Amino acid sequence: MKYCLMTKEQLVKEKEQLLISYDNLKSKHLKLDMSRGKPNSDQLDITAKVFKNIDCYSKRIYKDNFDIGNYGLFSGITEAKELFAELLDGNPEDIIIGGNSSLNLMYDMFSQLMMSGNQDSVRPWCKEEKIRFLCPSPGYDRHFAICEHFNIEMITIPMNEDGPDMDMVEAAVKDDDTVKGIWCVPVYSNPDGYSYKATTLERLAKMQTKAKDFRIFWDNAYFVHHLYSDKKDEIENMLSLCRQYHNDDRVYMFASTSKISFPGAGISAICTSKSNIQNIMDRMKIQTIGYDKINMLRHVIAFKDRDGVIKHMEKLAEVLRPKFEIVINTLDKEIKPLDIARWNTPLGGYFISFYAMEGCAKKIIELCKEAGVVLTSAGATYPYGKDPSDSNIRLAPTYPSDNELEQAIEVFVVCVKLATVIKMLGEIK
Ligand SMILES: Cc1ncc(COP(=O)(O)O)c(C=O)c1O
Repeated sequence: MKYCLMTKEQLVKEKEQLLISYDNLKSKHLKLDMSRGKPNSDQLDITAKVFKNIDCYSKRIYKDNFDIGNYGLFSGITEAKELFAELLDGNPEDIIIGGNSSLNLMYDMFSQLMMSGNQDSVRPWCKEEKIRFLCPSPGYDRHFAICEHFNIEMITIPMNEDGPDMDMVEAAVKDDDTVKGIWCVPVYSNPDGYSYKATTLERLAKMQTKAKDFRIFWDNAYFVHHLYSDKKDEIENMLSLCRQYHNDDRVYMFASTSKISFPGAGISAICTSKSNIQNIMDRMKIQTIGYDKINMLRHVIAFKDRDGVIKHMEKLAEVLRPKFEIVINTLDKEIKPLDIARWNTPLGGYFISFYAMEGCAKKIIELCKEAGVVLTSAGATYPYGKDPSDSNIRLAPTYPSDNELEQAIEVFVVCVKLATVIKMLGEIK
C-alpha cells in the first residue's frame, strides 16, 4: 500500500514492524560497502588473464621507431594514441596519453589554468577576482572537490535525462565572463547514468560564452562501459562538433582505462585541439619527464584495437549486469508499491541514482551505517556536499559480491522505509 494513503495508525504500526526488521538486521553485524564505484575481484580476474602473459620488454620499438624503454616520446606512443582515437572516434594527433589517472590530468589542467590560464586567458585564473564553474548535479564528488580546492565558486545546474539544463547553461555563460567552464560526464553520468543527447552536445558546442577562455571539462569516464551489448549509449566526438562550430579550443576531453583494465594502473588520455595540446605540452614538459610508455604498450598489446576493448567490456558487463539487476529488482519489489522514491535504471556506468522522499537521504544513510552498510555520504553528489533536497543517494553496486549486495540492499530498503515513515509521522499534526 502506498504510504501516502496510510492513516497515522497504519504508519505507526508500519514503523513498529520496520524497527523489528531493522534490529534483526543490526544483530547480524554486517560490514558491507556500497560507497564507491570500484570494479569487483571477478572483473579484475578477467582483466588479469588478458594481461598475464604480455611481454612488453623483448620488443620495444614499434611505429615510432623509438625504444619505448627510454626517456622520450613525451606525448605518448603512437599505438596508444591510435587506440584512444578509435575509441573516441577522433584523431591520434589530437591526443596526449597520460599516466594512471584521468582525474590527475583534470587536476593538473585546473592547476595550470589557475597558475597561468590558457592561451585565450587575459590573466591567470588565480588573478581573477572571481572564477565560477558550472556543475551539473547530481555529479561526481571529486570534480566538485577540485573546484573547492582551488576556491572556484560552483554553480549548480540541474541534470536532466538529456544532459545538463541547457537553458540555464546558456544563460549562465552568455554575459558573465567569471563563468570559466563546465564539468560534464557525457556518457552514463556519475551518478544518474544519463547520457547527453545530440541536441545537448550541439548546444554546448555552439553556445556563446562571454569568457574567451571558457572550457568544457568533458570527462568521458564511462564511454565504453555499457551493460548491454544491444542497448548502448554512444555520442559524437565533442571535439569534432566544437570544430564544426568554430569553437575548436572549447573542449578538453578526458578518458582512461581505469575501469577497462586496472584502476590506478591503467592509462589515461586527453583529446583536444592543436592549440590546446600545445598549451598543455608547454606545461607538461616542465612537470614531468614523460608518462609510463611501457604501460601504454602493455595496454595496446592487451587490447589491440577498439574491437578488443569492446569484447573485453562485454565480459566485464556479464559480471556487472546481475549486480545492477539485484538492486533494481529489489527496489521494484520493495519500494515501488509504496510510492516513496524513484531511481534510475542505467544502461551502463557504475552507479544507480536513488531519489528518496525529500529530507530523508541523510537519515537513510545514517541508519544504513548503523546497520553495517556504508553508502556514499549524503550530499556528496552536489557542490559543497549539500543536496538542497536531501534526497539523492548514489548506490554503487559494482564492488560487493552478489551475496553481499543482496544483504546490503535488504538493509537499504528497510532503512528507506523506516526513514520515510519517521519523516511522515513527524509531519502529521
Ligand atoms: C566521472 C569520473 N571521472 C573520473 C574518475 C576517475 O578516473 P581515473 O581513475 O581515470 O582517475 C571516476 C571514477 O570513479 C569517475 O566516476
